[in-house]
Amino acid sequence: MAGDENWVDIGSTEELSGLPLRRIKAVNHELAISLKDGQFGAVSNTCNHVGGPLGEGRLDGEYIVCPWHNWKFHRCSGVGEPGFEQDRVPAYTVKVKNGRVLVNLAAGSKRAKSQHAPHPLSRKVEHAAGPLRVAGIATTAMDAANPRFSGSDHLLDHALKAARELGAETRMIKLNDLNFRACEGYYSKAARACTWPCSITQMDATDEMDQVYEALVHWADAVIVSSPIRWGAASSLYFKMAERLNCVQNAVTIRNQVLIRNKVAGFIIVGGQDNIQAVAGQMLGFFAELGFIFPQFPYIAHSRGWSHEDMERNVEIVRASRELAEGAAMLTKRCLDLAGHLITRDQAPASIERGGRKAHAIQA
Ligand code: FES
Repeated sequence: MAGDENWVDIGSTEELSGLPLRRIKAVNHELAISLKDGQFGAVSNTCNHVGGPLGEGRLDGEYIVCPWHNWKFHRCSGVGEPGFEQDRVPAYTVKVKNGRVLVNLAAGSKRAKSQHAPHPLSRKVEHAAGPLRVAGIATTAMDAANPRFSGSDHLLDHALKAARELGAETRMIKLNDLNFRACEGYYSKAARACTWPCSITQMDATDEMDQVYEALVHWADAVIVSSPIRWGAASSLYFKMAERLNCVQNAVTIRNQVLIRNKVAGFIIVGGQDNIQAVAGQMLGFFAELGFIFPQFPYIAHSRGWSHEDMERNVEIVRASRELAEGAAMLTKRCLDLAGHLITRDQAPASIERGGRKAHAIQA
């Protein structure tokens, strides 16, 4: 039995009765203190997964739910929820004496982590030998059961055909064919909660955004993204994808880890009305933040302007245009030429310090 010197006073029962769960610093321990049915519990505040603050989560019965990715630990024993009992966070004995709540910090149980197989996407990013590889990402949305002609898809087809004629391998990804969840804002909880691979990808095996991650981070040397213009912006599927790519950029913010090295991006933008430069500007800015490099003249585009509402004619112009098809092919060539140079020189850093953009832990 430990002597009284090991018991640390963390507050009065009255003070600690206001919340079912809270985070408390006791000496040099960060604790998650819970209260349910008149019984206090004390476990480490640090989640086994990637360090989420358990004391800022919520109670689900006798379990604390981590606020970052919802792992659960028993609020008194620290043991993981049924099926995950090998995961434990340190738990501490609590007693109430003379209206004060005391925690025995000297007799905490040990932390234990079960072995989770690393996600395949988390493997080292390495350039594979062989021909250059071009991924096309089509972002237009349509009814899959009743497909229609898409000008941006059509020009992307031309771009990939040109890549094959230049000896490259190609892969087409149509976002419309993928089932993937919208970004759920893990970054908004804490920068470190937005993980690589994406938290959703790690938790949900049915989520198909992994195909985009695999292509962009591991497989492709050049990426060509096509989008229609929707109310002056890229398509909704483009933005759905872009938000899910936050984890790629965030690897730099939280770990200085550059996932995109020696890779090139180009863009195809097709609209009924204008705003091409604004759409291109957004895409260029975002892909630059991911780490992509651009060739001279990194996008091609088509629009007939605000006064042309005859969309069926606009479609026919794109379908029949030799100039646009050639433009798509030349964009591909510029992307491949630059990718070849970048790979040969291999000067892109694998790690980069982002001054002023490190993830800062909130001081308790
Ligand atoms: S579930 Fe706790 S940090 Fe991910």
